[in-house]
Amino acid sequence: MACNYQICTKENRNLFMPCELLSTEGYNKCDKRMVVGMWIIAFYLLGTVAGDEVCYPRLGCFSNDPPWSGIPGRLLTGLPESPEEMNISFSLYTRETGNNSQVISAINSSTIQNSHFSPHRRTSFIIHGFSSTGKKGWVVEMCLLLLEVENMNCIAVDWKEGAKGTYVCAVNNIRVLGAEVAYFIKTLQKLFRYSPREIHLIGHSLGAHTAGETGRRIRGIRRITGLDPAGPYFEGTPPEVRLDPTDANFVDVIHSNAAHFPATGFGMYNTTGHLDFYPNGGTLMPGCNDLLLEMKRTDFEALIADTTIFGSCHHSRSHEFYFKSILYPTGFIGYPCETYEDFKSGDCFPCPKQGCPMMGHHADRFPYKLKRVNQKYFLNTAAEPPFASWRQKVFIKLSGVKKMRGDINLIFHDTEGNTKEYEIASGVLSGDKVYTKYLDVEIDPKKTKKVEFLWNKTIFTLLWARMGAEAVNIIHGEDGRWSTFCGRGTVTYGVPQLLTPC
Ligand SMILES: *[C@@H]1O[C@H](CO)[C@@H](O)[C@H](O)[C@H]1NC(C)=O
Ligand SMILES: *[C@@H]1O[C@H](CO)[C@@H](O)[C@H](O)[C@H]1NC(C)=O
Ligand SMILES: *[C@@H]1O[C@H](CO)[C@@H](O)[C@H](O)[C@H]1NC(C)=O
Ligand SMILES: *[C@@H]1O[C@H](CO)[C@@H](O)[C@H](O)[C@H]1NC(C)=O
Ligand SMILES: *[C@@H]1O[C@H](CO)[C@@H](O)[C@H](O)[C@H]1NC(C)=O
Repeated sequence: MACNYQICTKENRNLFMPCELLSTEGYNKCDKRMVVGMWIIAFYLLGTVAGDEVCYPRLGCFSNDPPWSGIPGRLLTGLPESPEEMNISFSLYTRETGNNSQVISAINSSTIQNSHFSPHRRTSFIIHGFSSTGKKGWVVEMCLLLLEVENMNCIAVDWKEGAKGTYVCAVNNIRVLGAEVAYFIKTLQKLFRYSPREIHLIGHSLGAHTAGETGRRIRGIRRITGLDPAGPYFEGTPPEVRLDPTDANFVDVIHSNAAHFPATGFGMYNTTGHLDFYPNGGTLMPGCNDLLLEMKRTDFEALIADTTIFGSCHHSRSHEFYFKSILYPTGFIGYPCETYEDFKSGDCFPCPKQGCPMMGHHADRFPYKLKRVNQKYFLNTAAEPPFASWRQKVFIKLSGVKKMRGDINLIFHDTEGNTKEYEIASGVLSGDKVYTKYLDVEIDPKKTKKVEFLWNKTIFTLLWARMGAEAVNIIHGEDGRWSTFCGRGTVTYGVPQLLTPC
């Protein structure tokens, strides 16, 4: 079996992997002797394995020549398993099938012709990553939700048997998987003159690079969405090895666990599409614990080996964001910016005249999406589902106060009775200052019913003190539009003051 390579065994893996996993910066910090030792051993091994190849019917041959093996960051990879060993399967979901998907196969194309597949509709393929499955869980849920919003063919690709071994074996296997998906698309072309322009590939982690491999083999695919494309063995490699903007007419990417020194992660940090979104900076997601950040490189290595934990919370957020973006198009707007620090400081607020793209499902609505490749976009999300937020800059002018200690807050209410409270300032407050803050408000401005001002005292504040908001100005990030709310008089602490449009 191709994957039982000597370089692929568990004993060896722990010895070789750590330095390879490091980002460029991390690489330099690696123990020099270890790096040298690793190279010597690697060259010794490569001497015995380079130039090998394996061929499979329908799909062709796969060699382990560079760039597939033997380049920096990819020293120890080998050859892929056969499609049968991976037990690759395609489950079709349509509005007719509902939850009862139909297993269809390009090898016996009558299964496609006898299915509910319609050549008059668009098709999405959902491809899972390492140590996951396409038979249940997020892949199936994604298909079912997509069908709610569009009458399409949704195909859940399963390669669980090829994704469950070691990470290195799964990395090798996606080459065959990508070829198998390409073969499936070629079959659709033959059967129905079905155009790749009708096809959207959505892949998570290794599934993202699988989509890239399919796109390398079939030109003109309408769109590939990479959901936190896997970093280890792909970061810094040539474009043919990984997902890149030439793999489809439009490539959009969500980075949710990008390995960015000193943080460890499963995702790629570098841009790899036309539009690259970095929610919350792209590395660590709010609402997930920070286990990864505290982890030493060696622990991270053990984590990758332990298949049960690989679906880290940060890494999985990318497909959760995509899922929610189907339902909340304007709740995931990305701001063009050089770095996350610039974004946080407000440098890239509000959206420029040409507008901002929406992260996730509706990214393809952005008119300038193909203008350049590797365009970076930043945004903050909420820590909990549905994760959507609307970035705003607020200004508060206080009334009824000269100088006082306390904190001032805004409460947003929506039409469904949800409320969200945000602290705008705290400490010594003064009446002649305007307090401003960037907020990622978890309530859609279009559904905002009312805004309230609320303040709280500290132990130093007089019990009978009063304060109010004279005016609250809000700039909406999406379009730079202003809204103004006014308050009347003052309130005592803990009592909300209603603000009305003025
Ligand atoms: C292989 O896939 C088929 C069809 O999806 C399924 O019925 C079968 O259980 C799978 N076999 C294994 C070993 O997972
Ligand atoms: C289909 O599956 C979804 C989610 O798995 C579930 O909520 C729904 O009730 C199912 N529908 C039917 C008809 O079984
Ligand atoms: C192909 O699939 C059809 C069902 O669509 C089945 O009846 C037939 O036996 C299959 N043929 C082969 C060679 O497996
Ligand atoms: C990041 O991507 C850019 C553009 O594709 C490329 O020029 C650069 O070398 C990449 N950097 C790394 C570390 O891979
Ligand atoms: C007001 O501040 C006190 C002390 O800092 C705190 O215990 C209390 O929970 C706050 N009340 C509100 C409504 O925020």
